Amino acid sequence: MSDSRTLRIWDLPTRIFHWLLVACVIGAFVTIKVGGLWLEYHMLFGYGVLGLVLFRILWGFVGGSHARFARFVRGPRAILAYLRGTMPRSPGHNPLGALSVLAMLLLLGYQAVTGLFANDDIFTEGPLASRVSKDLSDQLTRLHKLDEWPILILVGLHIAAIAWYRLAKKQKLTKAMITGDAPASDFAAGADPVRDTAATRLFALVIAAIVAAVVYGIVSLRPAGF
Ligand code: HEM
Ligand code: HEM
Repeated sequence: MSDSRTLRIWDLPTRIFHWLLVACVIGAFVTIKVGGLWLEYHMLFGYGVLGLVLFRILWGFVGGSHARFARFVRGPRAILAYLRGTMPRSPGHNPLGALSVLAMLLLLGYQAVTGLFANDDIFTEGPLASRVSKDLSDQLTRLHKLDEWPILILVGLHIAAIAWYRLAKKQKLTKAMITGDAPASDFAAGADPVRDTAATRLFALVIAAIVAAVVYGIVSLRPAGF
């Protein structure tokens, strides 16, 4: 738990979400590059990404304060103030980082959904591919493949930004994404910690269970034999 010198800025569900997302995205990339029968595992990692993105969207509305979209998605004025350095640092994503968070969720969500309809022209296809025409499935497969570079670029920028904060600003953002805590002195006086109690964690578990059931339902739409 955080003490008076540290502030809890990321609740446990948000942290678990992040590191599972990292594992699933890396897993999806590695398995598709290995190819062959690993396509089956590619799809499993893809279902993981789908569930995680769905979870994060819901958590962005009902989750811990700093994880909520309403808190960190800000307009151009706040972004400009942040860039000019006239905005005190508050816990959570900064207004510019928020854009990259949204972009990553959007591109990864889009990737997982197009994957559901994709086919490899041999014997593997996403669970919803046979629900649409072969033409549409081929088109969605193309879009799925086209999203590869945008994802790699965004993730590259994301990691470069984290490294820049570490080197130029001496802020250990990754440590906070692991332990949940950051030094209270990093923030303006009176900055509020996020609620990260047994009750909020249980609530996240309920949401995760609902999302898992939805993803399982989608995957079950796959025709027998595939
Ligand atoms: C969101 C996570 C995902 C990522 C990052 C991802 C990434 C990729 C990439 C980069 C390719 C192109 C590979 C290449 O051309 O070298 C690909 C192909 C493919 N993906 Fe995904 N994918 C994801 C989710 C899914 C899901 C959920 C499914 C299906 C359930 C799926 C099914 C496929 C199929 C069938 C192909 C075509 C394989 C081929 O033509 O050989 N993907 N994926
Ligand atoms: C596949 C690779 C990655 C993806 C897709 C990814 C995605 C994300 C997303 C979606 C968020 C927003 C978290 C939320 O609000 O729920 C985030 C935040 C964050 N990520 Fe990553 N991430 C990746 C790799 C990494 C790596 C390798 C590190 C550290 C070395 C890292 C460190 C962080 C940190 C510190 C934050 C919080 C940033 C802040 O303080 O505003 N990420 N990441």
